[in-house]
Amino acid sequence: MFITFEGIEGTGKTTQITRLKQHMEDMGRQVLLTREPGGSRIGRELRRLLLTMESSDLTGETELFLYLADRAQHVREVIRPALEQNKVVISDRFADSTVAYQGYGRGIDPKLLHSFNQTAIGEYGPDLTILLDIEPEIGLKRAMMRNMREQKVREEGRFEAEALPFHKKVREGYLTLAMLHRSRIRVVDAAQSPDEVANAIAAVVDECMDK
Ligand code: TYD
Repeated sequence: MFITFEGIEGTGKTTQITRLKQHMEDMGRQVLLTREPGGSRIGRELRRLLLTMESSDLTGETELFLYLADRAQHVREVIRPALEQNKVVISDRFADSTVAYQGYGRGIDPKLLHSFNQTAIGEYGPDLTILLDIEPEIGLKRAMMRNMREQKVREEGRFEAEALPFHKKVREGYLTLAMLHRSRIRVVDAAQSPDEVANAIAAVVDECMDK
């Protein structure tokens, strides 16, 4: 089973992914946690280029192709082998991030992105996507505080530095995607307490596994 987590910055994805891993392991499943960008060795080099503040000269098209390159490598090197071993794979971000950020955020045609994504991932699309939804004003504040606390503003702050209207477009894009793919993408309100969010996610995952 392949599960992806999506959402704008500061929705608490990392905390919730760790909790879901525990939940799945309690049910006797082997779980592989991974993320984009940076799920493979080559991907970790791409991640540095993509997220550092030093990449202010990166063009929108270059950014897109680096995310797709990261994904193509990630699927073949990490995700596919784990699924073949019957593991549950949970990825912090995947193909929907490209449609939300490079498509709805930066203005590249989402239809084109669906087809690029298809080339990058082949038949290995997620069975379930949890979209953690929050007001961008709250999410960005949380993400900036985390980057300052972990001293990652320079290393990983390129997207957090985008203005609020960009994050609003990304959030709207995600909600549009959720409407277009109702059976795969499930929206969870990330403004609730961490326990409430974890319970909502566990309920969705259990329901999906029962099918
Ligand atoms: P991440 O490290 O998960 O940041 P956060 O923990 O703040 O969510 O993701 C890195 C950034 O990369 C994030 O701002 C979204 C962006 N991104 C894209 O623009 N396109 C993509 O295809 C992916 C996977 C991520």
